[in-house]
Amino acid sequence: MKPLIKKLVESYGPSGHEEQIREIIRSEIKGLADYVTIDPLGNLIAVYKKKAKSGKKVMLAAHMDEIGLIVSHIDAKGFASFVPVGGVRPLTCIGGRVRFANDVIGVIGVHERRDSNGVPTLDDLFIDTGATSPDTSPVKVGDAAGFFRPLEEIGDRLVAKSMDDRISCAVMIEVMRQLKRTPHEVQFVFTVQEEIGTRGATTSAFGLDPEVAFSIDVTATGDTPKGHRMEVALGNGAAIKVRDAGMISDPRLVTLLEQRASEAKVKSQREVLQGGSTDARAIQVVRAGVPSGCVSIPCRYVHSPSEMVDMRDVNAAVSLLVQTLEKPIDL
Ligand code: CO
Ligand code: ZN
Repeated sequence: MKPLIKKLVESYGPSGHEEQIREIIRSEIKGLADYVTIDPLGNLIAVYKKKAKSGKKVMLAAHMDEIGLIVSHIDAKGFASFVPVGGVRPLTCIGGRVRFANDVIGVIGVHERRDSNGVPTLDDLFIDTGATSPDTSPVKVGDAAGFFRPLEEIGDRLVAKSMDDRISCAVMIEVMRQLKRTPHEVQFVFTVQEEIGTRGATTSAFGLDPEVAFSIDVTATGDTPKGHRMEVALGNGAAIKVRDAGMISDPRLVTLLEQRASEAKVKSQREVLQGGSTDARAIQVVRAGVPSGCVSIPCRYVHSPSEMVDMRDVNAAVSLLVQTLEKPIDL
């Protein structure tokens, strides 16, 4: 799975600009599904048709967009100001690198400030693309960039930008590869625009009208020095979401996932997340409502250019989802 993960996390695709990452995923899943479509908002949808009468319409959602930025102004010397795409924090930007759709690389610098030790705002930051004037700037106002950093392997851990949520895209692709028998219609959706308000999940779930849904996304951990007061830790298995800031998982699905995890002898842990949410928040409340849950990949340093996951948790998430989809889902 590691070459696949590397390819996905290193690709370009800030929210609203998912063309490149979508093409990469589309070629990875070629021939696996009964049919593949792209909906009007850009969601990539791969469907395994129902094989048994008792099967349900089950939607799986992992978002393929990533946080990033959009150029808002270019000054007389060619430096670019920007606005954020999704939850971008100034502290994780400084000294970082970004990449535009045309492969232009920029470095993020910070203006001289009166209190140089104080926390900067995004307005204090700029992108240096090597340009010396607006005319020589290789990027224009309105161009979008993603962060840029190669993947690194540290023991059982992988570090990269955009683990949120490309790691779950990799999980979903691996589930598609491993899933041999399922009674269900399984709708694998690689969603767009999650980071700016779960927009792709909203429209795709409306279109697909599932009976049950699971999002797959990263979650924070409480295992760093003075970290959140939170139980989730790297290496303790796939996280089964109970609650986050945007939703309460359907308790029947929490029970089901825990049962399937123990049957498959897969390590799992319960997740109660204070801030943040996932595509499941949106899916849960489309149309007349969809019983929804979420399988999370524990991840340190979420929304930084060095998001860290543990391969054992990634593999656990794959096994848990395969086990769940192979069996009946009775609510
Ligand atoms: Co995110
Ligand atoms: Zn995410």
